[in-house]
Amino acid sequence: MSTRPPADTPDDVIVVRGLRNTFGEQVVHDGLDLEVRRGEIYGVVGGSGTGKSVLMRSIIGLQKPDAGDIHVLGDPTIDREETEMVDLSKRWGVLFQGGALFSTLTVAENVQVPLREFYKKLPPALLDEIAAYKVVMTGLPADAGPKYPSQLSGGMKKRAGLARALALDPDLLFLDEPTAGLDPIGAAAFDDLIKSLQRTLGLTVFLITHDLDTLYAICDRVAVLADHKVIAVGTIDELLATDHPWIQEYFRGPRGRAASATLEHNEANEPAGTES
Ligand SMILES: Nc1ncnc2c1ncn2[C@@H]1O[C@H](COP(=O)(O)OP(=O)(O)O)[C@@H](O)[C@H]1O
Ligand SMILES: [Mg+2]
Repeated sequence: MSTRPPADTPDDVIVVRGLRNTFGEQVVHDGLDLEVRRGEIYGVVGGSGTGKSVLMRSIIGLQKPDAGDIHVLGDPTIDREETEMVDLSKRWGVLFQGGALFSTLTVAENVQVPLREFYKKLPPALLDEIAAYKVVMTGLPADAGPKYPSQLSGGMKKRAGLARALALDPDLLFLDEPTAGLDPIGAAAFDDLIKSLQRTLGLTVFLITHDLDTLYAICDRVAVLADHKVIAVGTIDELLATDHPWIQEYFRGPRGRAASATLEHNEANEPAGTES
């Protein structure tokens, strides 16, 4: 059990205690605890079907758990009416797994969706201005705004999804497998973007990923989901020191070794004092 104090501690942006989720007979989470600290990139890793996406949905109040207690930014997210969640949900942005954009809307219109939802009276010129700013902030060319998702590459779609998640200037960003489907170069560029946005905007990031390179490159701490709960959390070095077989196989297997070697290579080639 964690010895960190619960919920109202300002440095803990997300606190989950005793979470239990089931679907019929299937137990997905049982006795799951975690806490995410302000300003960190908190990676969540685990085998397929271990409940990473369900965990994220529980935290943002879209999945009602069987038991447990969840606080985000000091507020509970379980058993809340939708109207009670409005002020809180304005403070986070979400990129869902698969992160689909609305295909009939342009990039700029996609980014405006959360703005229109929460601020019904914003003048169109301001909506356009905010969307244009978010588009550029996520590294898309300025002329991407009027394009439709079908006209974009995979990496550009992800950026547009990120621009939409950042529409409301959130404190907290939830990303579910953001680099899935990108080639290694596109994935590395997206990692860099997440890291630089986290630094410049002071974001806290809850990042679900399968991507070992992402875990190595940008996560401050990594939580491992197995056996229905978070079985270990720490830096990758700390995780490597645990003897859980899944952790050892995952991080020390061929792909883990390759990711570790890539990081060492990149660090060795970085001029001193530069920020990646
Ligand atoms: N709405 C649902 N109804 C029934 N089963 C679900 C539902 N959502 C997820 N599950 C099941 O819960 C388990 C965890 O799912 P998920 O969180 O999506 O896993 P992952 O770790 O791959 O993201 C899976 O076995 C999945 O089939
Ligand atoms: Mg998932």
